[in-house]
Amino acid sequence: MKFLAACFMVLQLLFASEIQSFDFIVEEEPEKLAELFDPETSGFISSPRLPSSRYQRSTDDEEELILGEDNIVLHSYKIQSTITSRLANTMVQTKVENRAKHSQNLVFDVQIPKGAFIHNFTMNVNGITFTSSIKEKSAARSQYAQARARGKAAAILRSNALDMENFKAELNVPSGTKVQFEIHYQEPIRRKLSTYEHIIPVQPGRLAKHLEVNVHIVEPQGISFVHVPNILGDQFTDATTVNKGGKKAHISFKPSVAQQRKCSNCTTTAVDGNLVVTYDVNRDTKAGELEIFNGYFVHYFAPDNLEPLPKNILFVIDVSGSMWGLKMKQTVEAMKTILGDLRSDDKFSILDFNHNVRCWRESLVQASKIQTDAAKKYIEGIHPNGGTNINDALLRAIFILNEANALGMLDPSSVSMIILVSDGDPTVGELKLPTIQKNVKKNIRDDTSLFCLGIGFDVDYDFLKRLGTENNGAAQRIFGNQETSSQMKKFYNQVSTPLLKKLEFNYPEGLVSDVTQSSFQNYFGGSEIVVSGKVDTENVQHLQSIVTATASDAQLILETLADVEGLDEFLNKDKHADPKFTEKLWAYLTVNQLMAERNVAPTAALKRNITKAILQMSLDHHIVTPYTAMLIESPNGEEMMLADSPQDRKRACCPGALTIGQPKPEKPIPAWAPLGSKDPQSVLMGPTAAAVHTGKGSSIHLLILLIGWVLTHASPAQGKAQ
Ligand SMILES: *[C@@H]1O[C@H](CO)[C@@H](O)[C@H](O)[C@H]1NC(C)=O
Ligand SMILES: *[C@@H]1O[C@H](CO)[C@@H](O)[C@H](O)[C@H]1NC(C)=O
Ligand SMILES: *[C@@H]1O[C@H](CO)[C@@H](O)[C@H](O)[C@H]1NC(C)=O
Repeated sequence: MKFLAACFMVLQLLFASEIQSFDFIVEEEPEKLAELFDPETSGFISSPRLPSSRYQRSTDDEEELILGEDNIVLHSYKIQSTITSRLANTMVQTKVENRAKHSQNLVFDVQIPKGAFIHNFTMNVNGITFTSSIKEKSAARSQYAQARARGKAAAILRSNALDMENFKAELNVPSGTKVQFEIHYQEPIRRKLSTYEHIIPVQPGRLAKHLEVNVHIVEPQGISFVHVPNILGDQFTDATTVNKGGKKAHISFKPSVAQQRKCSNCTTTAVDGNLVVTYDVNRDTKAGELEIFNGYFVHYFAPDNLEPLPKNILFVIDVSGSMWGLKMKQTVEAMKTILGDLRSDDKFSILDFNHNVRCWRESLVQASKIQTDAAKKYIEGIHPNGGTNINDALLRAIFILNEANALGMLDPSSVSMIILVSDGDPTVGELKLPTIQKNVKKNIRDDTSLFCLGIGFDVDYDFLKRLGTENNGAAQRIFGNQETSSQMKKFYNQVSTPLLKKLEFNYPEGLVSDVTQSSFQNYFGGSEIVVSGKVDTENVQHLQSIVTATASDAQLILETLADVEGLDEFLNKDKHADPKFTEKLWAYLTVNQLMAERNVAPTAALKRNITKAILQMSLDHHIVTPYTAMLIESPNGEEMMLADSPQDRKRACCPGALTIGQPKPEKPIPAWAPLGSKDPQSVLMGPTAAAVHTGKGSSIHLLILLIGWVLTHASPAQGKAQ
């Protein structure tokens, strides 16, 4: 509870210092606005059934039926997503109208997978199109301030969902206004546990006259399977179609209004969840697939059928008082499965810590059935209490591994890893996070990977991320709820099968440049390593790569050769293929790598340098990063909004202010819930609107609040096998 209070204060500060307001005024005569409304000139309504004069009359029958109590009509809700060789471009578009007699809020609230890059947002208000540009943060702010900025109202909203962030625009519009919102974002689909999983939140928030989700997959390697689990609900079985060809697939989800209804006479929608598309591609060679297109190459590496390497694994488990109850119960459950899954040639031990550090065994033991059964018993007997001494716990784990290594106990082909499970910041022993980070770095061997699982929001997740990234590992946030156990197991499964170690990706010097991370400590079964770079396609016919790696019984040298024009015919012919997919993948990897480097940069000068590089990348490739903001402008540039993100959130800790203290894994706020007051008058009487009113006589006022922010990137080790 104490933590929650503190967290709330942090949010309040963010409110005060970080959030700009986005009031915005359109001074149009009401009649003029009515003209703009003409669906034909505005291009707003595509249905030819609606003549332009219809809008003022009351709605047709179908619309009556979908009209909520608030008299807002959702004309259409459309999602279009295209995956070109793992690179997904997704567009979410809604067309909505205020049919009430008074002005009220129209809200566009979309969940965006954490790690995705937003690259475009447009808005059309009664025929006026606002377009966005991405600018350096302070430049965007000052440009915005010089325009017509007024007022101070906004709210920060963070999605509570594990892997999602929200982008939210809120618009207070007069009666009869029609608005079209459209957002574009892109992300590579990562391979985990032998599948690519593409998650598309489908949350119209209300019945939509026209609801449609289309996913196109274009994979030059060929698609081995496509699966669309029916998690939106049984009633949508007929609404989903899947067509799979050799290298292409199309998934469509198109429920009728009747299907959308929660019950046959309900006006609420049953569509509220994720459309999940999973697939994998064919793989012929162990050496991976080298794809070259438009001046960039991308190398996908995911060999199978290799003997797993033995692992030396230390579980370091926080058993401080805060773990008491559900979290500990779930952790015990997960650990019992994980221990049962250890292979007999693995070595392991368990450390549990509160203010003290205890070892189940003082040195690594072979994972025989007797030992794993004993370890399970030990875990079951733990009663959490006391403080949190992360520093000593990690140093002890490192010591055990180092000692085993010094004594020659470890198989030369084995992989060493530490898995830290914690739900809070240090409270005992060394408290300074940078010192802990330094201590770990100083003592840990270069070939040891540190994976950090942070349970709940009472833990400095950025710190865990830095620890993981700096030490060949990664961090993962886990919810402290009923899902904890399955999330922990899922994470463990991703790192439980090391197949290769010490991987080096080589390309001919002089032919390629700006290559992303090309050496990796480990490759885990079911994952995929991605390396990308620029290639001089004008002067090169073929590109060769040589991958060297250590397998369980041999040193591997894997060679592949790709024709620079090999994909041209296929990709140029396909109307869905994104001709820039290689460039976007390269930019994505590069930006994430820079962020990870910045995270661990030792000096302020270097940090600044990296910040500059990230900024340049976001401007060049038109993507929103923590150092840029999106400026949204009307055609004449007079009206402006700013989609800003809070700067460098120190703690990526909290769920949104609106849902604080109620960790719900599902999205807490329906996309179209009018978050503003039901009574628009109270909106207009707020301090913000008072400013809007000043000297504006009878003109029409639009008040726009736009809140957008971007993730701190979940996995800095992008492209790293995890
Ligand atoms: C943003 O989206 C709009 C509407 O689809 C489009 O016209 C515009 O070209 C896009 N801008 C960029 C930079 O992609
Ligand atoms: C829907 O129909 C059922 C029975 O036909 C009725 O009991 C219920 O009140 C109706 N609900 C609404 C929202 O009209
Ligand atoms: C910053 O970047 C410039 C050019 O990229 C480089 O020459 C310089 O050495 C860098 N400074 C630091 C402190 O890394």
